[in-house]
Amino acid sequence: MRLQLTEDQKERVGDLLKAMTLKEKIGQMNQVSPSIVGGFDVPFEELIEMMTDGRISHEKFEEIMKTAKQDFHEDQIRDGKVGSLMVQDAKEVNRLQKIAVEESRLGIPLIFGLDVIHGFRTVYPIAIAEAGSFDPDLMEKTAAMAARESRSAGVAWHFAPMLDIARDARWGRVSEGPGLDPYLASVFARAKVRGLQNDRSSTEHYVAACLKHYIGYGACESGRDYNTVSMAMHLFYNTYLRPFAAAVEEGAATVMASFNDLNGVPCTVNPFTLRTILKDSLGFPGFVVSDANAVRECVIHGIAKDEIDAGIQAVNAGLDMDMGTGIYSGHLAQALADGKISEETIDEAVRRILSVKMWLGLFDHPYVSSECARRYDTLPEDHLALARRAAEESIVLLKNEGSLLPLARDQKISLVGTLAASREEIIGAWAMSWRKEDCVSIREGMEQEFPNLRYFPCGGPEGEICKADVDQAASYGDVLVAVLGETDAMSGEASSRGDITLPGKQRDLLQMLLKTGKPVVLILMNGRPLVLDWEDAHLPAIVEGWHLGVQMGPAIARVLSGAVMPQGKLSADFPAAVGQCPIYYNHPNTGRPGSRSKFTSRYLDIPFKPLYPFGFGLTYTSFAYSKLEISEGEKQLQIRAEVRNTGDRRGTETALLFMQDVTASLVRPVRELKGFRKITLDPGESRTISFRLPKKELGFYDNDGHLRLEDGAFRFFVGGSSEADLSEEAEITF
Ligand code: NOJ
Repeated sequence: MRLQLTEDQKERVGDLLKAMTLKEKIGQMNQVSPSIVGGFDVPFEELIEMMTDGRISHEKFEEIMKTAKQDFHEDQIRDGKVGSLMVQDAKEVNRLQKIAVEESRLGIPLIFGLDVIHGFRTVYPIAIAEAGSFDPDLMEKTAAMAARESRSAGVAWHFAPMLDIARDARWGRVSEGPGLDPYLASVFARAKVRGLQNDRSSTEHYVAACLKHYIGYGACESGRDYNTVSMAMHLFYNTYLRPFAAAVEEGAATVMASFNDLNGVPCTVNPFTLRTILKDSLGFPGFVVSDANAVRECVIHGIAKDEIDAGIQAVNAGLDMDMGTGIYSGHLAQALADGKISEETIDEAVRRILSVKMWLGLFDHPYVSSECARRYDTLPEDHLALARRAAEESIVLLKNEGSLLPLARDQKISLVGTLAASREEIIGAWAMSWRKEDCVSIREGMEQEFPNLRYFPCGGPEGEICKADVDQAASYGDVLVAVLGETDAMSGEASSRGDITLPGKQRDLLQMLLKTGKPVVLILMNGRPLVLDWEDAHLPAIVEGWHLGVQMGPAIARVLSGAVMPQGKLSADFPAAVGQCPIYYNHPNTGRPGSRSKFTSRYLDIPFKPLYPFGFGLTYTSFAYSKLEISEGEKQLQIRAEVRNTGDRRGTETALLFMQDVTASLVRPVRELKGFRKITLDPGESRTISFRLPKKELGFYDNDGHLRLEDGAFRFFVGGSSEADLSEEAEITF
């Protein structure tokens, strides 16, 4: 829903702007975090990062927060020098808001923001997993749930959704976004913005979304976090901009500029991306915030000679709010006096910020009521049910030789792996407001579903293998279920990995388990596509479980028992070897596509295909596709195909539509996702599915950002993954 103010609201914003001093205006452009003073001498943000990357545990963080003496910058708030704060507790929010509203000269409310990436109190699956549900209704509902929960703590602004297209699995932040495909990412983007922003029935129900990281961050060279980004402009327009453009169209209220440079200009100070594209061309009406400390980092980038220069460049480029450096509040007045920035530029930024605050209802409802603050003290059943549905729909069955799965409920199962017993690790990167008592570990979930299950820790991503445990596991179970993978700190920010096989001694552990002669089922818990070549070659059954949130335990258990049919698909290709990274099905064609013969685009020593392609995912039944037909109308195409359930269980399939522009004025991807349909079929049942594809969707942007619609041959593919082989070609005219 567009960020629209009533005439009266616009007038209030205008009146305020007229009444504000320069200092107050610049104050609105300043976001601060509480700093820890005494007890723990690091900035709050670093403390959050320490928890996120595992240097301190969640419990330790909570402990510190309870005891540490914090500076919430009350004096600055009173003085009108702060526009936004990062706080996540209703009492603190109300206390600080009272200072802003009742003690500052103009009483402008603060906007409280936080990283609510995949849930607030109820944590649902990480984004890369949830995208694989191919279920926009689910994506919207989980966002709406997070919005209500965070608003009850006074957090009216989510630094989400993260919309970075990510094609290099080494990058730790692949976990936070919807994968590698611009179409799927755009569907995800729209659903998230609707979920966060559209329930305007009460100010307690919606928040402002913040699209991040704008732009190109996911294309960081070699998957190393914060690294440089260079890309051709057609790639920028067709791939990386797509989900942002979709989310802006859907009405997203704010955007966060990314840390990286794009073709030499850091996105924090990039007038082309911020002004020309975002504000002018896409017509984005909200405000742009920097990433943490990013304005200062422009000096280290070597693009600004000092802090004041960085601030000037950022404001002039269209960056409305500075996150955490204090450079705007420290230097913009001087910059204005020196004629380096204009008052109009400042006014524009402040108008945008005040408009979002007005749209959020903060002027009329600045506080959290005590009833609202208590609303989620105990998580409601429907939130847990939604978290479980989200987890179940996101699970991807990667291998199931000899129909080893589902497991019989009375089977003697040895559950193995330290991750299986953890209530913390199921949460994944970037979740801060959950409580341990709400989490159900895989062990707990499995114990409910399988009465004859016993647990043997054996080992995990860190530490040694316990041989005695392995022996006991082998002598008890008829089947060994190993939960292995990554800790939550191994993905997310600053968590790139150069080796993306199972970390630590987990492959050795699998080898030991296999030697027992018992069938081994691998359940993966991870935040990125992993290299699973060895596992795929040796294990009969593999289930991709990602970090699925508070209900991971029951979801995994129910999929393993067959109470729920697996239906998730991969939102990113899984490489067959790390040397393939970046690997993505929708790569541009070459003159020598990779094949077995030598002089083609390939490596000598590793395969040219991914191990599991985008869209891949099995279930306990199977589907076949046939009868692909294309009919062309004036404005749209209709593409139909028949899907048949060829197995012996009722199951759900997501049918995917891909397209290839066979000949064009620029080299186009070998395939591009253009649509998907979910259908549930009984054994033997077949149904015709139909995709309506507006002809505009067949076009592409050239290097100057112009949309091209070129007559000619287009090939369409329908099937279960990006390797679908059912295809038809059609000559299309525009
Ligand atoms: C840094 C991260 O890059 C960004 O995603 C996050 O929103 C901010 N810090 C605030 O925590």
